[in-house]
Amino acid sequence: MNDYQEYLEEILISEQQLRDRIRALGEEISADYAGEDLLLICILRGGVLFLTDLMREITLPHSIDFMAVSSYGAGVRQSKGLVRITLDLTTSIADRNVLLVEDIIDSGNTIASVLELLNVRRPKSLKVCTLLDKPERRESEVPIDYRGFEIPNKFVFGYGLDLDGYYRNLPFIGVLRPDKVSEFADAS
Ligand code: IMP
Ligand code: MG
Repeated sequence: MNDYQEYLEEILISEQQLRDRIRALGEEISADYAGEDLLLICILRGGVLFLTDLMREITLPHSIDFMAVSSYGAGVRQSKGLVRITLDLTTSIADRNVLLVEDIIDSGNTIASVLELLNVRRPKSLKVCTLLDKPERRESEVPIDYRGFEIPNKFVFGYGLDLDGYYRNLPFIGVLRPDKVSEFADAS
């Protein structure tokens, strides 16, 4: 794989900005769920870095679980809202306060579909926390309870978000160079 520099147009959100914002989100969540039980659910794989940083800023006792979904027509960014669970939770969410932790909400189709699937299991509450929100591309209306950053309609990578599976480890959110967009199925 090439060095990430080859794909980077600009750094959109720096490591420091991420840290500051995630700290604030953690404080907000800690205040909102004070005295309550809390379960964070991370949708693999993009949300992993966000989850592990966010949970260290949440001062309440809480547990975590993971799930993975794939949209029909995988590899295509324009998901049509139909998702299939490829890895299910290991814990029951019935009567629990669930907070979904996502990397990015783009069309909104993935999260809308996940919310539908999880609501059937009768959680006590079900809310959404996303690091990034790209509202220009929204197709499904989704309630966002906690939002890290609103971003423009550009394909981004780093800090959990990938280019064909790579560069999730970068500590910042970067914009993909427009002349490289056609190299990645998810971005074009
Ligand atoms: P949605 O169903 O269109 O909201 O898409 C959600 C998924 O698409 C995210 O969880 C990401 O995996 C992927 N995605 C959307 N936009 C981007 C991006 O700019 N960079 C990397 N992945 C993205
Ligand atoms: Mg992806």
